[in-house]
Amino acid sequence: MSGVRRPEPARLASRGGRNSKEKARRSRPAREAAAARRPRRSAKRPPPVYMLPRRAQKIEIGGEPLTETATVTLAPRQVPVLPVRHTVLFPFALLPLNVGRPKSLRMLNDAMAADRTIAVFAERQPTTEDPAATDLHRVGTLAVVLRMIRMPDEQVSILVQGLARVHLNEVVSTEPYLTAKVSPVYDAEVDDVETAGLAQALLTEFERIVSISPTLPAEVLVAAKNQSPPGRLADFLASLLELPADVKQPLLEMQDVKQRLHSLTEILARQHQVLEVGQQIQEQVQQSLDQRQKEFLLRQQLEAIQKELGEGDESRREIDELKEKIEKAHMPEEVRREADRELARLARIPPQAPEYTVARTYLEWMCEMPWAVSTEDDLDLKHARAVLDEDHYGLDKIKERILEFLAVRRFKRDARTPILCFVGPPGTGKTSLGMSIAKALGRKFIRQSLGGVRDEAEIRGHRRTYIGALPGNILRGIRRAGSRNPLFMLDEIDKLGADFHGDPSSALLEVLDPEQNGTFTDHYLDVPFDLSQVLFVTTANYLDPVPPALRDRMEVIELAGYTDLEKLAISRRHLIPKAIRENGLEELNVTFSDEAILKVVRDYTSEAGLRNLERELANLLRRTAKLVAEGEEPPRAIDPNRVHELLGPERFQTEQLTRIEQPGAALGLAWTPAGGEVLMIEATVMPGSKQLLLTGQLGEVMRESAHAALSYVRSHVGELGIDPEFFESSDIHVHLPSGAIPKDGPSAGVTLCTALVSLLTGRKVRTGIAMTGEITLLGRVLPIGGLKEKVLAAHRAGINTVIIPTENQKGLDEIPVEVRSHMIFAPVDRIEQVLGLSLEGDAPVKTVVGPTDSETAPSASDGPETPSIQTESVVARRRES
Ligand SMILES: Nc1ncnc2c1ncn2[C@@H]1O[C@H](COP(=O)(O)OP(=O)(O)OP(=O)(O)O)[C@@H](O)[C@H]1O
Ligand SMILES: [Mg+2]
Repeated sequence: MSGVRRPEPARLASRGGRNSKEKARRSRPAREAAAARRPRRSAKRPPPVYMLPRRAQKIEIGGEPLTETATVTLAPRQVPVLPVRHTVLFPFALLPLNVGRPKSLRMLNDAMAADRTIAVFAERQPTTEDPAATDLHRVGTLAVVLRMIRMPDEQVSILVQGLARVHLNEVVSTEPYLTAKVSPVYDAEVDDVETAGLAQALLTEFERIVSISPTLPAEVLVAAKNQSPPGRLADFLASLLELPADVKQPLLEMQDVKQRLHSLTEILARQHQVLEVGQQIQEQVQQSLDQRQKEFLLRQQLEAIQKELGEGDESRREIDELKEKIEKAHMPEEVRREADRELARLARIPPQAPEYTVARTYLEWMCEMPWAVSTEDDLDLKHARAVLDEDHYGLDKIKERILEFLAVRRFKRDARTPILCFVGPPGTGKTSLGMSIAKALGRKFIRQSLGGVRDEAEIRGHRRTYIGALPGNILRGIRRAGSRNPLFMLDEIDKLGADFHGDPSSALLEVLDPEQNGTFTDHYLDVPFDLSQVLFVTTANYLDPVPPALRDRMEVIELAGYTDLEKLAISRRHLIPKAIRENGLEELNVTFSDEAILKVVRDYTSEAGLRNLERELANLLRRTAKLVAEGEEPPRAIDPNRVHELLGPERFQTEQLTRIEQPGAALGLAWTPAGGEVLMIEATVMPGSKQLLLTGQLGEVMRESAHAALSYVRSHVGELGIDPEFFESSDIHVHLPSGAIPKDGPSAGVTLCTALVSLLTGRKVRTGIAMTGEITLLGRVLPIGGLKEKVLAAHRAGINTVIIPTENQKGLDEIPVEVRSHMIFAPVDRIEQVLGLSLEGDAPVKTVVGPTDSETAPSASDGPETPSIQTESVVARRRES
């Protein structure tokens, strides 16, 4: 009920007024009574209290009596004016004010002596010290002074009650204080639905405010509901709420009640929002305070428990240990920064949190990487050669390359490290050579098989955010090596896979690129690691599946396979001593004759490499040992007979496999990842209708070769002496044995053609001849790949004449001398030459030069000398060997 507005500090002190449900009634007897008491008051100071006249004291404020008063007072009249700052008095409202200006004090004294009626007007500019009428708002409130108390500091405190809105019409006098003529301003009020609605809306808004306001008690709502008419409700609420004077003044000036209700509702709505937001913020602050307090308490308790259990020290010790490890790891600056950052983070995480383990594992990885650890290369070339020779027989090209690398290192310590790729059939010593190189250089050796690696993350690791993430294979290997310059063998690079997880070969590109691998970044460590000093050696059985970009970055060194004699030497020097050593059979004193070893090589193993040979030699030793253990006295010197007795029937009867018994068969040479192979091609003819049947898992390219061969034959029936009509009433069937193994490639062309001609002319192919070469439709022979492997395979199979394309002749130098010297090579340009050389019978095949092929294809007479191989000589040589 009271004036809630806080008064201006200097002059208006909010005080009391809560009990003042009095109503002033300006009546003559009251004024007289006051005047009569005045001399007494001045006699007994301080503090004289001006009380309301007795009668007036009995009258209650509120309700109807004021209307009655209004009729008395609301005529235009002349009243003293009290200018006020920072506040606005509304009709019917009570407002305590402090008054200090001498003019105002004087005015109040006079008013108290008269009918106590004054007009309160708000100042426009609160700074004016002695406001004139022009400094005041034009609309103010006619009021009655209910009480006046003299304060010790020459100030007085008064309580005024508003009576009605008045307009300041004209100044009557300015001295000794402002007196003006005012006239009442009546509410423009219509009693309609809209006004009632607006009043209801205002009340609702007020109710909402009361519900969340910390300062407004619920009773004010009851009081507000009792206010009527609506204009009075608006005035009541406007004076009740803490609003700035410049908001209140316009409300006072609003004569139109609807407008007043509307404006006030808007103001209240805003006020409500402000209160609400304030409350939310308050709640949030409280909540977060509560949460933090709770956490703090829990942590305190946890720490106490940990201390009790002796665990808290554990994590601190761990952090100290890590700090020390980081110190010792001598990381590059950038890496060090990352490690320090992670360590600082670790110290903040409670040890129970899952991130703690993640961060600690990461830091452990960081510390264990050999950032600054490397081994010194042994640059002694003699020593290196000795080590390499000790472990491996032959392989001179590779050994030379390693020695070159060492030699360069002598001059330039940080010379670029080569990335080598050993390619060759299984068991040719690629992996073991890698180990031996590491031994020769004095480097750590790490081997990582890439077979079946399908995911990029296996090379480059998973990001730390994954649960259970680890660095990739490369950095794991480096850590295992414990040195930043090991020999890193990436085995079976041709078995690398690729699937939807990403292509590991692209990650390998970065590893194997000397330009990039100085800053190889693993996803897990997320800091660069220098791989440029690592000697990478990759191995593959064949290069086809290796992506060209990867192939390009490596130095490819081929290991084609060993000859029988090499195998003999390797067995003597390496395989047998190793098998004896590994089986602990030194006391057995078993010896092998050369023939025995060669028998194992030829009849029990048929391979380019040494795996099976190694196994069979060990078998011989173990079986002898078993007999000795059983108390028998087996011969200790192993000869071919003994081999047969111990190993059982021969497994590879090459003589039989390669013997040609009848027309229609020919021997070809094929290349496979496991080395070269001799391939028998058979053809047969039967009644039918012009069909060419091809069986034996032939690939598309080989099928086309077969068709081309047949077309060549059909177009040359005349020269070949074949019945031109043969095809009309027959089917031809070409078959390659070992039908379960898929075969493809163009180099069987000459063999297919020879088999067909042999079949159709009835002339057998000479025994001991194998051939390789692609043919064109017009009979030219084109070069092939894998010559060395093919020749070695032919040699293994006991074949001593090989027909090869002329262009491949230059590749013969690569073939070991001991093989070369036992073989006859027949270079050819045209199929007629092949037929002439390979088919039995006297009638040499006439050379035919295709009409469109005349410039490029030389005839047998003017081309390269047709190798003059006589059947006899071939047979003779065959018998010799
Ligand atoms: N030139 C050689 N001198 C001595 N021993 C050899 C030679 N070549 C290979 N070996 C031996 O042959 C065996 C097989 O070699 P290794 O495992 O290195 O073959 P690989 O080429 O890696 O085969 P794969 O391609 O199947 O992995 C090893 O015991 C190795 O010591
Ligand atoms: Mg290997």
